[in-house]
Amino acid sequence: MYALEVKDVKKTYKSRKKQTEALKGLDLQVKSGEIFGILGPNGAGKTTLIKICSTLLGKTEGEVTVLGMDIEKQEKDIRKRIGYIGQDSERSTYARLTGKENLEFFAALYNMSKDDFLVQLEEFKKIYDNHEIFEKEVMKLSGGQKQAIVVMRGFLHNPDLVFADEISKGLDPIAAKKIRNFVKDYAKNKGKTVIITSQIMSEIEELCDRVAIIYEGKVVAIDTPQKLMDDLNIQLLEIRLRSTDIASPEFLQEVASIESVLEVQQDNGYLRMPVSNSSQAFEAVMETCRKFGINPVISYRTASLEDVFLKFCDKKVDLEV
Ligand SMILES: Nc1ncnc2c1ncn2[C@@H]1O[C@H](COP(=O)(O)OP(=O)(O)O)[C@@H](O)[C@H]1O
Ligand SMILES: [Mg+2]
Repeated sequence: MYALEVKDVKKTYKSRKKQTEALKGLDLQVKSGEIFGILGPNGAGKTTLIKICSTLLGKTEGEVTVLGMDIEKQEKDIRKRIGYIGQDSERSTYARLTGKENLEFFAALYNMSKDDFLVQLEEFKKIYDNHEIFEKEVMKLSGGQKQAIVVMRGFLHNPDLVFADEISKGLDPIAAKKIRNFVKDYAKNKGKTVIITSQIMSEIEELCDRVAIIYEGKVVAIDTPQKLMDDLNIQLLEIRLRSTDIASPEFLQEVASIESVLEVQQDNGYLRMPVSNSSQAFEAVMETCRKFGINPVISYRTASLEDVFLKFCDKKVDLEV
């Protein structure tokens, strides 16, 4: 069964002055038990999609099925079984309550028993060992600490499907790692589904079984991170020049003339070269360096998820958030 099925969904925001087509016929299927990533530039429609699927926002057209239930006909049943972590975390907590009181309040809304709540709180305390976030009023917490409470709120009632919009917003690398481990454990050991958006490519790559790239309200690519990267078929040699090395025009010309070097990009002390045959290019580049008395730090890499993102999304910069 699919945890989420989105069919030809359209969403138009209307105000008196203008209309914004945020989703333009979006299709998506997320399997049960998957950690699924949604990538896309600002304004692509990620938050709109997540809000629609979490029953927080109405769609204009199309069909959405969440955990096998229709988004409009079974809205209440869906809400009991999903968790939602919004990108706007300021509004997801009560500032004057402590972290623990906040979680207690939402536990009550979900009809959790006191015992179940305390068990869950202990779980959270094991993951997040800086316990002052539970004892302090939320208004006195840092942005990242607040986000940790918001994330916990999303998972509190053991939902079958969690939507997490900008899950690691404001988290320091240590907290972000802990949350990632928690999410992995939640999906893999409990068989739950988690759908996340993040601007941190390494996070998506580490966590997600599959990724959809959304651009201007449509899915433009969907696959495992590995497959998306492989499909780009990029092999890159990168040379970092030492401060004593000088990349003369003659040197650059000779490097560019190597058969398996497709292009030479110069960037702030680096030479970046897409290559067609990495070992051949490596040998020839090293040879040329030796000839010119250059002793570089040379590295080789294949396509990253960032390359994939840029390929699909770097067509036009949209500054709207
Ligand atoms: N409440 C709203 N009213 C009008 N336009 C909106 C509203 N929310 C989002 N939009 C517009 O919809 C598009 C998609 O926004 P959003 O879903 O927030 O994208 P993302 O989360 O990918 O950054 C953008 O053009 C944005 O300006
Ligand atoms: Mg957003």
